[in-house]
Amino acid sequence: MKALVVFCVVVSCLASAQLVRPDKMRLGVYNPDTKHYEKQTLGQDGHDQQPHRPALLGQDGHDQQPHEQALLGGDGHDQRPHEQALLGGDNHDLRPHGQTLLGGDGHDLRPHGQPLLGQDGHDQRPHGKILGQDGHDQQPHKQVLGGDNHDRRAHKKLFGQGNHDYKKHVKVFGGDDHDMGHMGMFKSFMKQHNKSYKNKAEFKKRFKIFHQNMKKVHILQQNERGTAKYGPTKFADLTEREFRKMLGFQPHMKPATSSMEPAVIPEDLEAPVSFDWRKHGVVTPVKNQGMCGSCWAFSTTGNVEGQWAIKHKQLYSLSEQELVDCDATDDGCNGGLPENAYEAIAKLGGLELEDDYPYDGEDEQCHFNRSLAKVTVNGSVELPADEVAMAKWLTQNGPISIGINANALQFYVGGVSHPLKFLCNPESLDHGMLIVGYGVHTTKYLHRKQPFWIVKNSWGDDWGEQGYYRVYRGDGTCGVDQMATSAIVP
Ligand SMILES: *[C@@H]1O[C@H](CO)[C@@H](O)[C@H](O)[C@H]1NC(C)=O
Ligand SMILES: *[C@@H]1O[C@H](CO)[C@@H](O)[C@H](O)[C@H]1NC(C)=O
Ligand SMILES: *[C@@H]1O[C@H](CO)[C@@H](O)[C@H](O)[C@H]1NC(C)=O
Repeated sequence: MKALVVFCVVVSCLASAQLVRPDKMRLGVYNPDTKHYEKQTLGQDGHDQQPHRPALLGQDGHDQQPHEQALLGGDGHDQRPHEQALLGGDNHDLRPHGQTLLGGDGHDLRPHGQPLLGQDGHDQRPHGKILGQDGHDQQPHKQVLGGDNHDRRAHKKLFGQGNHDYKKHVKVFGGDDHDMGHMGMFKSFMKQHNKSYKNKAEFKKRFKIFHQNMKKVHILQQNERGTAKYGPTKFADLTEREFRKMLGFQPHMKPATSSMEPAVIPEDLEAPVSFDWRKHGVVTPVKNQGMCGSCWAFSTTGNVEGQWAIKHKQLYSLSEQELVDCDATDDGCNGGLPENAYEAIAKLGGLELEDDYPYDGEDEQCHFNRSLAKVTVNGSVELPADEVAMAKWLTQNGPISIGINANALQFYVGGVSHPLKFLCNPESLDHGMLIVGYGVHTTKYLHRKQPFWIVKNSWGDDWGEQGYYRVYRGDGTCGVDQMATSAIVP
């Protein structure tokens, strides 16, 4: 409703401007059917795409002063070089205009009846070209750009041709979501992630999904309590259903009676402020599970790789595909649990190397060859839902396999992720990952401490922070402490 009212103001303003000096206005051609001037586009002129920082149109300050007469410029004075003095009566033209003229755009031709232009200081900023051609300077700017809701008005085409409204406005432009995930963003997303779609229909479909996803990004970002940034990751054109295929943690597969033992926590230990197993050579490079719900297998191999490397000083990259194919308790690309996988490894007689039993990301016939198994497992432990205890255990024993709620992950770009509970229910675990370390981030300005876990994911190193996720540590965020386990290796 509000948007409609504002739009009407725009139209009537344009209309009355037309009556004054249509020939000098350079507003384009007024079209009574569409009720706007055509051939003019905010955005296309680029003027809002540039940083409006210092540097001043009106280094001379002339737009800051009241224009006493109406119709300053009715005489076209600002279109001429201002060698002559004194137009306007307020001396404003006595001072030099840094740039070639205000007036090239005709904006001073319009009556400045209302105290608008200038009052908000917005005309002091450099305008690439053409103030006014788009008409946006004809309306009163109560405050500065961005805070003044000028973007609430209907814009003909514009957004999307550049990212002009995306970057600079912290809050949602316009109070609605029309700018979120516009075509310009989608195209730069496609470019960034080398996306192509097989036909126009697919392109349209993906754009629509992307647009919806950017609303989710917005909600995550608005509610973020840490330092995480969410945005158009490589998964930004996937529906939630498609994205779920990249998970695969299935808490309901937990056996009624667990064979896991409680982990022994070194209670007296004073754990260091930060710790990172990657620096100790016990973590393999980030892998990629693809469109297969095999996170549980990657979480498991990551843990066993670490356990084996710490105990035997030998880091092997181990086979997830063997677990996908041969672990009958779990369900391959349809999901599983590390707890079951540890036991399956023991029963099968070990894990082959990645190279010997390579990953395909599909359910296949099991072709495990026992004589190729390089490592084995002969037990497992369950850690308490206590992040202080988890940190202590980790420093002494190695990386920890976890289940987590993946809600913050599809659009995670980097930073310490600390979503609100309603956006990341700690009781709904749906993704398996591997904690390899922890630390504390101190925020730049307020110096707030943000403890975090360093979590290895299995979505390639072009996701998150080189394949890793940092999640807030200390309050059970996203259920990070709910299903923490480890294999024991002989
Ligand atoms: C981008 O995608 C095209 C087609 O899918 C492929 O041939 C090309 O190698 C890709 N380039 C990069 C840098 O990934
Ligand atoms: C298992 O691996 C061994 C060692 O490479 C090889 O000799 C044997 O043929 C393999 N068995 C099968 C069934 O592939
Ligand atoms: C695992 O193997 C080690 C070394 O062979 C042994 O000491 C330990 O008792 C075994 N644990 C289990 C649970 O079988």
